[in-house]
Amino acid sequence: PDVRAVAQAVRDAESVVALTGAGVSTASGIPDFRGEDGIWERHDPMDFHIDRFRSDPEGFWRDRVKLQASAFDDGNVAPNAAHEALAGLESAGHLDTVVTQNIDGLHQDAGSEDVIEIHGSAARVVCRDCNQRFDAEPAMARARDGDLPPTCDDCDGTLKPDTVLFGEQLPEHALMQSQAKAESAGVFLAVGSSLTVEPAASLPRVAAERGATLVLVNLESTPLSGRADFDFRADVTEALPQLRRAVEE
Ligand code: OAD
Ligand code: ZN
Repeated sequence: PDVRAVAQAVRDAESVVALTGAGVSTASGIPDFRGEDGIWERHDPMDFHIDRFRSDPEGFWRDRVKLQASAFDDGNVAPNAAHEALAGLESAGHLDTVVTQNIDGLHQDAGSEDVIEIHGSAARVVCRDCNQRFDAEPAMARARDGDLPPTCDDCDGTLKPDTVLFGEQLPEHALMQSQAKAESAGVFLAVGSSLTVEPAASLPRVAAERGATLVLVNLESTPLSGRADFDFRADVTEALPQLRRAVEE
């Protein structure tokens, strides 16, 4: 596929939307789910199910502390060239919105401003009783100290990471916003995602049905590879900076 042709489409489009998945953060040291060495090679997906949280919040938090320690590289994670390219495209006026399935906050750290987190954020926890949201760090600190499960300062309810588990609904506002963005996109970039988890995977499909130019960047093929206008089997940390340079040429 031709990067310059994509760059031209990006420059010409009124609205460019990117959907990102775990593949944009692997170069920052955070494992993906289904790629090589992914989380599913070490964890049972049922450990990420709301039923598991409901039946054993204490065990869930204990696993979460371990996962955080292994997956987030001691908290030393930083955005990589892929996050930076997307932030650069936005600040140059060539990208409207990043819709992300990631919970790591790295798009914001790279300077992206319009970010829709459809699977929530690891930076927050939510109280199961009063629904208030809080910074995750104090709750994580208590969990690390063995105070399990951490509870709400206000009502003593059980706190849960404010991330979407299997069996849970996506945050409604974020989902509706991202659907609207997909419907009006002139170019839709789906990057670093296996495009296998609904409803996120339906966003590029909807965009393409509404006439968007569909661009995929992923190391492996995806279920949408057959319908993409441009299908880059490439590393996002190389392809996205290349695209950014081509757009700005
Ligand atoms: P996946 O792990 O399913 O897919 C990540 C894709 O990125 C794989 O196809 C990898 O080959 C590819 N990849 C990895 N590193 C890359 C790189 N440097 N450059 C290009 N491609 C690379 O992750 P997602 O599609 O994000 O949801 O998974 C979707 C959802 O599944 C997650 O948000 C999570 C999980 O269940 C929830 O937990 C709700
Ligand atoms: Zn509460």
